[in-house]
Amino acid sequence: MQIGPYRIDPPVLLAPMAGVTDKPFRVLCKRLGAGLCVSEMTTSDPRFWDTAKSRHRMDHDGEPAPISVQIAGTVPAILAAAARHNVDHGAQVIDINMGCPAKKVCNAWAGSALMRDPMLVARIVSAVVAAVDVPVTLKIRTGWDREHRNALEIARIAQDSGIAALAVHGRTRDQQYTGVAEYDTIAAVKAAVSIPVLANGDIDSPQRAKAVLDHTGADAVMIGRAAQGRPWIFREIAHFLATGELLPAPSLEEIRDILLGHLQALHEFYGEQAGVRIARKHLGWYLKTAARADAGETRMVSDDDTASFRRIVNAVDGAADQLRLTTEHFDRLSEAWSIAA
Ligand SMILES: Cc1cc2nc3c(=O)[nH]c(=O)nc-3n(C[C@H](O)[C@H](O)[C@H](O)COP(=O)(O)O)c2cc1C
Repeated sequence: MQIGPYRIDPPVLLAPMAGVTDKPFRVLCKRLGAGLCVSEMTTSDPRFWDTAKSRHRMDHDGEPAPISVQIAGTVPAILAAAARHNVDHGAQVIDINMGCPAKKVCNAWAGSALMRDPMLVARIVSAVVAAVDVPVTLKIRTGWDREHRNALEIARIAQDSGIAALAVHGRTRDQQYTGVAEYDTIAAVKAAVSIPVLANGDIDSPQRAKAVLDHTGADAVMIGRAAQGRPWIFREIAHFLATGELLPAPSLEEIRDILLGHLQALHEFYGEQAGVRIARKHLGWYLKTAARADAGETRMVSDDDTASFRRIVNAVDGAADQLRLTTEHFDRLSEAWSIAA
């Protein structure tokens, strides 16, 4: 798939997730096979650009190209200025958020609320495209609610306004994250426009990625929650799409090494205090993935063991302690698994 001058290969992308897709996670997912990783949403309001949060979100030092940065807001001129600011700080692709259902975002009429006002969508998209000389992508939902499923109308506006690729999450805004994603609307969007279309929503395995691509005709898949605690899902999907074969699951040792590297990158990026705190949720996700891998008949590690490890590791504030306890936990897991084998 092509986004402006960039070839996105494999056609498997990391979805923007506020509080999750920070630089350490994007770099990791890229290394493990993602074709493109979209940043967390950055505010378009310049009053907040000098906060620690924005400075981290706008830091792309050492990040592999192409660097895609998502912006959120409601006022065309302000979004245009935000796009320019991010390009000046390293963005090589600008993504506009019209997919986020969060109250904080939608009450301010941003995110997916914008889909209720197609004229405003056209003005925003045109202003941002005109403001920068990098490709601009757009992320939407299928509509506001079941009665207002206007993704097709928005997709045509996007194409006419110069959007380089369009990601569609197969839910309406009022569904938030409930129910299941539907892919018929994404297929209809793909059939109606000639720009690349990315299918998003509930894709959590190589087989599902292939089925969604087959069903929708989309050019790529975008993975969000399934990558939490499982960043190697990108290489698994890419391999299956390329060969029709499933890669073996990563060994426990590889999971441990990926996790320890991820924790260290978080400590370095945010500093020890914030890094240890932010690392806790990622650690929790990796543990869930490990528990799922261990969910066969001969269950080696009980939920109680995992819960008690989480209580202990979540109580420490030091980076060295967090790394040591995690290493020891994985050593125990390895031992239990090798006894079972
Ligand atoms: C924690 C979290 C944060 C998210 N933040 C954003 C965001 O900042 N911008 C955005 O466009 N979508 C955001 N999303 C939506 C995801 O990009 C994606 O569309 C959604 O999770 C569906 O994909 P999935 O089923 O693969 O997770 C977020 C989702 C989650 C779970």
